[in-house]
Amino acid sequence: MTQDTFPIRRIDHIRFYVGNARQSAFFYRHLLGFSVSQFHGLETGLKHEVDYLVEQNKIRFLFSAPVRPGHPIAEQLAVHGDHVQDIAFEVDDVDWSFNTAVARGATPAREPFTLSDEQGEVRLASIKIYGDTIHTFINRDKFKGHFLPRFVSREEPGVPAGLIEVDHCVGNVELGAMNHWVQWYQDVLGFTQLMSFDDKDISTEYTALMSKVMSGGDGRVKFPINEPAEGKKKSQIDEFLEFFGGPGVQHIALRTDDIVGTVSELRRRGLQFLRVPKTYYDDLPARVGKIDEDLEELQDLGVLVDRDDEGYLLQIFSKPITDRPTLFFEIIERKGAKSFGKGNFKALFEAIEREQAVRGTL
Ligand code: FE2
Repeated sequence: MTQDTFPIRRIDHIRFYVGNARQSAFFYRHLLGFSVSQFHGLETGLKHEVDYLVEQNKIRFLFSAPVRPGHPIAEQLAVHGDHVQDIAFEVDDVDWSFNTAVARGATPAREPFTLSDEQGEVRLASIKIYGDTIHTFINRDKFKGHFLPRFVSREEPGVPAGLIEVDHCVGNVELGAMNHWVQWYQDVLGFTQLMSFDDKDISTEYTALMSKVMSGGDGRVKFPINEPAEGKKKSQIDEFLEFFGGPGVQHIALRTDDIVGTVSELRRRGLQFLRVPKTYYDDLPARVGKIDEDLEELQDLGVLVDRDDEGYLLQIFSKPITDRPTLFFEIIERKGAKSFGKGNFKALFEAIEREQAVRGTL
């Protein structure tokens, strides 16, 4: 199998550049149930930046913000707003991963380097992907600490909302760039293409997009890549590219084993989700057959259902979590299905278009 040509243990963490990391940590703790667990900043000797690590089960998000003028993070924030800057992979051998990726055509972002303190050392290196986004390779086999050297623990537990791990992470790229990145993930990181959708699958009266799903790390890492297709009006991908200032990460899907419990709790805490019309549920039993969940409960929450050859999945999408209509979250529960909810695309995109119309960007 081609994915064995580039061993990746898992997504280690996702790093966000934000304007105010303290407030982001608070938001993720109180709204999404993350615990604030690690900190590095002025008080720990970091002079120009502050970093907060938040965790829930296997999910780790790192929020980084500049604390002085003229910081490179501030320049990227001016272009993109708060955004996902790095999807970091834990690997067996950072130097091998970096050198192999670069030999296969990746552009270096940071040459291999070591961070150390009295707890040991961590090796890191990064390569560029679309836009200003990067993949960092990280190995902490020689480190006894929790996350990275010089970070200190911070005990601010959240009340978990049942979020378990990152299921997939979606990138939006420019028209014509999707196949370039599909090829890049195949050539550089040995990923395979799981599935593809074209504008016949994913179109509404007004907008269309194309998508290919890349998978690596023995199936543990799944990255759909979207590009806009010609439609009558501006597609949600075009809207993203305009407001983001180029290609970037559009949504992160977080997996739960109890979507009804998770979404009820997130709604109660104030996270806003996209709504589909009530008519979506009329033909649902005919489309997906028998499911374990109570249909009325799903309808109350706005949870969507789709079936494939292997089972079914339940999913729901948040509204954008930033000022710009860019980054949002998907909550997903898998009951055997390994796909991405193709049967929901139309209802979903019509819901997004209603939001776009309100923003005046359709
Ligand atoms: Fe998704």
